[in-house]
Order: sequence, then structure tokens, then C-alpha cells
Amino acid sequence: MSTSSERYTSVAITLHWLIAFAIVGMIFGGWYMSDLPDGAPGQYFLYQMHKSVGITILLLTIARIIWRVMNPPPPLPDDMNGLEKTASHLVHVGFYGLMIALPLTGWLYSSVSVKLDVPTVLYGVLSWPDVPFVEGLKTEAASGVVNFIHSKLAWVALALLALHVAGALKHEFSAEEGVLKRMIPGLFGKADAPQAPSRGALTAFGAALASLVVVTSASPVLGALTGSGAAVTAEAEFEPKWTVDFDASSITFSGTHDGNVFSGTFSNWDAAIQFDPASPSIGEVRVSVATGSAEANQKLYTDSLKSPEWFNVSAFPSASVEILNIDETSAGSFTSVARLTLKELTVDAPFAFQLQLDGDNAEMTGQAVFQRKALDLGQASDPNADWVSEDVTVDVVVTATRSD
Ligand code: HEM
Repeated sequence: MSTSSERYTSVAITLHWLIAFAIVGMIFGGWYMSDLPDGAPGQYFLYQMHKSVGITILLLTIARIIWRVMNPPPPLPDDMNGLEKTASHLVHVGFYGLMIALPLTGWLYSSVSVKLDVPTVLYGVLSWPDVPFVEGLKTEAASGVVNFIHSKLAWVALALLALHVAGALKHEFSAEEGVLKRMIPGLFGKADAPQAPSRGALTAFGAALASLVVVTSASPVLGALTGSGAAVTAEAEFEPKWTVDFDASSITFSGTHDGNVFSGTFSNWDAAIQFDPASPSIGEVRVSVATGSAEANQKLYTDSLKSPEWFNVSAFPSASVEILNIDETSAGSFTSVARLTLKELTVDAPFAFQLQLDGDNAEMTGQAVFQRKALDLGQASDPNADWVSEDVTVDVVVTATRSD
């Protein structure tokens, strides 16, 4: 006769409680974050954490299911009646379905949501791609349905939880043998029965890890297809008169996101410079920048910048800047216009710079501020600059040597 003193394995117990607390936290956390007004401080971080923990639950569930198959749970006490056994079994099946369906619908929603067209970076370090081949669902209507299912499944989970807890407590405190103790970590529960040696840890956790590796490695593959690192050459109808020392030069950008300063650098650009300090007004500079070479101070930002609503790197691998109307306002200080063309949109911004000449060597430092809206940057997920500042500052340092 089987009794309740046969316990679950410690791996099963650990996974059970870890996933249970995580799901309850995710439900209340999910409600909290989606009720926040757009742009509330920390909201962005909460969404990323929600997605990270949700994917973790999915991976742990893979491990848990494999573990369960390889280490069947102890049978229910014989004195439970058939109906109760069936009910308990159905609730368990329902839970396994939810542990898969909740993260999958969440992942699908974040992949097709028009409003939240933001990449997922697990815990800020590991790029997690969108669900592939679901472009067709990227509409208000379809993503609304997916969001509806995701949020309603949370209620189904709470309903099942109520049944599950009620069942566990009933069998713990009624005349029948306790079932709850079988799932209480050893210290507090009955550890009187020896467990059968468990097996399959490598298979269960290996499969979860393999899933993580397979899915996340799809990100760099997709990234490579977007041609992120393509070399650029500044087009020049004129002979370049200055040779840029790229190691001593930089193009950086900065702004604010969710109340914090962000910054980044373009590592791949080229410049053709025609400039005579004696007659600056006839000078001209043409810069070409590989949009996919933008690297920000956080992986999430770097990934976001490549996406369609930002630089759309796969469709527009390069941007160009012309420095025009150069005018010297005082010794070494200049004003000019930076004409930026990005995603086939062209905008002008004032570009003030300082120039230090030392023989044939020059160092130029300058700054321009661009507005996102005019360049159609981040207009799907953040058109009102709730998260990302409307102004993006671009700082340029160029060290060059006269070559004629
Ligand atoms: C067991 C895992 C999960 C649970 C229990 C869960 C639960 C929830 C809940 C309760 C909400 C609030 C829904 C509402 O507004 O009524 C929510 C929203 C959301 N979830 Fe999940 N979720 C899980 C996994 C995921 C995953 C893996 C992702 C993405 C990778 C995800 C993405 C989202 C997003 C983007 C929202 C916001 C919807 C909005 O504000 O429009 N979730 N989730």
C-alpha cells in the first residue's frame, strides 16, 4: 500500500516551489507593471524583468516535465477516493499546460505587440529573439487577442491555484493521510521514507540549457543577416584633404532612458574632409556611418537600435552626414549645419565645433542635437518620449592629418 510518507524528490520539490512563487509573483507583478502609466519610472525595467523571469519559468518547466517523466511522483494515498484523484490529476495537468502556455503567450505577445516593439534581453545580458515567422500577427487586432489570452490565463492559473491549495489542505488535515508533507522541503516535512535514487538531472537540466542555447543563438544569426557590421565608405566627389586617425576619433551619442543616461558609440564610420582653415566657408565634410555598428552602454539598447523602429539596420545599413555652411565665429570656434540622412529622412541640425591646429594635425570636437521624431526613431513604442528623451546628443571628436 502506498502512503503519503513517500515524498517527492528534492529536485521536484525545489522546482515546484521555485516555479510556484515565481508564477504568483509574475501574476501580481504583471498586473502592477501593465497598470503603470506609460513612462512611469522603472516600468521599462519591470517589463524586461517580467520577460526574463517568464522565460526562466518556461525553461525550468522543460526541466521539470522531463524530471517528472524520469522520476514519477509518489502515488496518491490509497484512501483518496477516485473522484478526488481524478480532480487532482486534472489540476496538475492544467498547471503543466499553464506553465507552458503563460510564458509562450507572453513571448508571442511581446513579439507581435505594436506598442511594445522592444527587444528582450534576459536579465540585461542575453538577447532572446522574438518568436520567428509571426510578422503577420503584428497588428493591433491580432496582438490584442494574444494579450487578452495571456492576461486571462493568469486568472485561470489563480483559479487552479485555489483548487490546488484547497485540495492539498483538505488532504493534509482530514482523516486521510497528508499529501502536503510530501512536497514540503525536507527540514519541515516528513523525511521518514527513503527516496528512490533520482535520475535524469543531466537530461532534464541539459534539455533546458540546450533550449536556452538554441533559442539565444538564433539572435546573433538574425543579427548577422541584418548586415550590422558592413564597412562604409564616405562618398566624396572631391579628393579628401585630411586623413582621419580613427583610433583617436569617435562619434558618440547620448540621451536619457527611463530616467537614466544612456550613451553609445558608432565603431564603423568613414569621413571625407575638405577643409581649409583659411577659407572655412568652402569646406565640406561627408561622413558615412554603419548604423549596425552602434554599441550602447547596455545590451538592451544595442539590440533595440538595430530593430525596425530605430535604425532598421537590415533595410538601412548606413546613414550619412554632411557638414555644410561652415563659419568661423571666433578663433578656432565654428558654426555649421549637420545634414543627417537616416532611413531616407533628411534633417538639419546646428553643429558647433572647435578646431585645434598643430601644423598638419588637427583635432576637432563638436556637438549636434537631433530630435527622434523627425528621424522616425522609436515612434512605434515611444512616440511621446515617455521613456527615451526626444533629444539625442551626438558628440564628435576627429583627429586628422592634412594629406595634401
Ligand atoms: C509564467 C509566466 C508568466 C506569467 C504568470 C505572466 C503573467 C502576466 C500577467 C498577469 C500580466 C498582466 C496582464 C494584464 O494586464 O491583465 C502580464 C503581462 C505581460 N506579460 Fe506576462 N506572464 C508570464 C510570462 C511572460 C513572458 C515569458 C513574456 C515575454 C517574453 C511576457 C510578456 C508580457 C508582457 C509584454 C505583458 C504586458 C502586457 C501589456 O501591458 O500590454 N509574460 N503577464
